[in-house]
Amino acid sequence: MRTRSIDVATPVQPTDGSGVQPTNGNGAGRSGPDGPTAPAAVFRGISHSFESEDGTLVTALDGIDLTVSPGEFVAIVGPSGCGKTTLLNILSGLEQPKVGSVEVDGHAVRTGDREVGYLFARDALLPWRTVLGNVELNMELFGVPKEERQHRALALLHDVGLDDYAGSWPAQLSQGMRQRVAIARTLATQPALLLLDEPFSALDAQTKLVLQDAFASLWATLGSTVVLITHDLAEAIALADRVVLMTRGPGRIKAVFPVELPRPRSIFSLQSDEAFHRFYEQIWMQLAEEVTPR
Ligand SMILES: Nc1ncnc2c1ncn2[C@@H]1O[C@H](COP(=O)(O)OP(=O)(O)O)[C@@H](O)[C@H]1O
Ligand SMILES: [Mg+2]
Repeated sequence: MRTRSIDVATPVQPTDGSGVQPTNGNGAGRSGPDGPTAPAAVFRGISHSFESEDGTLVTALDGIDLTVSPGEFVAIVGPSGCGKTTLLNILSGLEQPKVGSVEVDGHAVRTGDREVGYLFARDALLPWRTVLGNVELNMELFGVPKEERQHRALALLHDVGLDDYAGSWPAQLSQGMRQRVAIARTLATQPALLLLDEPFSALDAQTKLVLQDAFASLWATLGSTVVLITHDLAEAIALADRVVLMTRGPGRIKAVFPVELPRPRSIFSLQSDEAFHRFYEQIWMQLAEEVTPR
């Protein structure tokens, strides 16, 4: 049972200039198991700058317009420093844009919104709590009863391959295992909007595929709207409904690619899928221009 308080979201037409709607079953108007609860997320004319140490202004983002439809999975790729994390911070309300606005489910964003789950690139676990205690943390803050908390946490630990580590301490885990715990903790509150900043980047290649696959299955049951930030193009194509490509800083949207691969997708099978590789090459040609030195 989901306990969301969010209203039914009205699908919003994309304003990203791509002219494309999400093209598969997980696109606009997607319903979760208990009805259509996932929100739309909208960036309107976002520009942002930071003051550097010598007092000059660094433009991080320049004129970002993007609509993520309810239940859509959007991956944003771009070179390091192009403003990806800043964009996610703005969507979560952690950072106020200098120009423009963001909306979630038709409202201005609020920090601490319990419908929003934000997994940071280097998410920290509490060292004095066991693995189980860490996965239960956000549920505890949200007042989920103890029995349900434990039940959900153990199920998620199973999904991320950590059945045997519920009683372990974070210090006893590898970086990859700690990241799995952080993923489980973020999903445990079943957020209607999931913001993920490079969640798999600290993992070795094999573990990454296993976790991406587990995550894809979990997302299919959650029905959340997802914004995934990554510099890994293969990850973006494998998981998302649309891939948004950013330019090198100051970040602008360079192109938006609908991913026309059927779902459910097996992340493992995609590795040898011809259509997947064609997408990869098509997008890579444009991404390469942004990551290679001028
Ligand atoms: N708090 C900050 N203060 C100053 N500059 C920042 C700050 N956060 C980000 N920046 C700058 O903004 C740009 C975009 O950063 P970021 O959003 O972290 O990029 P990405 O996540 O794509 O690597 C970079 O030039 C970075 O140095
Ligand atoms: Mg970043």
